[in-house]
Amino acid sequence: MFRTIEWLDEEQAVRLVDQTKLPLVTGHIITTSHERVAHAIKIMEIRGAPAIGAAAGMGMALAAIESKSKAKDELLDFLEKAAVTLNTRPTAVNLTWATSRMLSVARNSKGSAADIVNILVDEAKEIAEEDIRMCRSIGEYALPLIKPGFTIQTICNAGSLATVHLGTVGAVIRVAHEKYDGSIKVYAAETRPRQQGARLTVFELMEDGIDTTLITDGMIGTVFREGRIDCCVVGADRILRTGHVTNKIGTYTMAITAKYHNIPFYVAAPMSTIDMQTNSDDIEIEERNGNEVRMINGEYITVPSAKVYNPAFDTTPPELITAIITDKGVVKNPNENKMRKMFES
Ligand code: MRU
Repeated sequence: MFRTIEWLDEEQAVRLVDQTKLPLVTGHIITTSHERVAHAIKIMEIRGAPAIGAAAGMGMALAAIESKSKAKDELLDFLEKAAVTLNTRPTAVNLTWATSRMLSVARNSKGSAADIVNILVDEAKEIAEEDIRMCRSIGEYALPLIKPGFTIQTICNAGSLATVHLGTVGAVIRVAHEKYDGSIKVYAAETRPRQQGARLTVFELMEDGIDTTLITDGMIGTVFREGRIDCCVVGADRILRTGHVTNKIGTYTMAITAKYHNIPFYVAAPMSTIDMQTNSDDIEIEERNGNEVRMINGEYITVPSAKVYNPAFDTTPPELITAIITDKGVVKNPNENKMRKMFES
């Protein structure tokens, strides 16, 4: 299992697994620059909502070190700018959650600029450690929903590589797999256009010896109809107070198909993914470069000038969701009332 992102104490640097080359090449990026972390998030060297949250936290810690300001006001100004620089992807709420948390720790500190730098480094490390604890807890809360021998359908990558370690969906799978003597099986949807399912989920689950079958996104209806799947478990980039879930493009189609076939549809995510403010019509869905669709592995697979629409995420309404599994418990048949109770607790 991967430690996707790590703070290196001696070097005062961040180390990331470079996810753009996986599974063929395993490489790392080591940097002391918050701008380089922002770039890594933007070009998806690191991706997945909790992982980019942890990266943004560490990016803020690097910015504090880089600022070299002796005056607290100057440091805070520098950090405000760094937060803007790091917020390079709009949909996953974990990014602004992490930068806002780091800013508020800095603003509320009574210490000197030098103290704030140390406090921010500790806070960034704590965000990462918390993420690992939250994932484990998601896996444990999910256990009663998963039975021995279950085959789980997932999409994109919400495994170790999408978090600091273990994963959200990754935790649901791994905790059940451990508990049920290795009897859990997984179907991973390829997840066009960036192929996180094929490149990352299949890779990390196979590394852990979990029986994993790769399908293309268009095969989901067929595997559901053939009775191959016991439940779906997907991650989330943003969960609203209404229970709407924004996740990788294709999730909504999978949820509709699951409903038609009476297959339970679960969403696994930490509390840092919950956004109690935004309305479902106001979520900014990232639209990515059309060449992601026009090309595979750097080669055109269509007319190079083909018109493309490439939204990276979609939003699934609560009526299609059987339960949301968080690190604080499970919300069955989510609605605003239940989400509020969970959040306020
Ligand atoms: O574009 P990506 O690869 O960052 O999208 C990732 C997803 O949609 C994941 O399912 C989501 O972030 C949850 S990760 C635990």
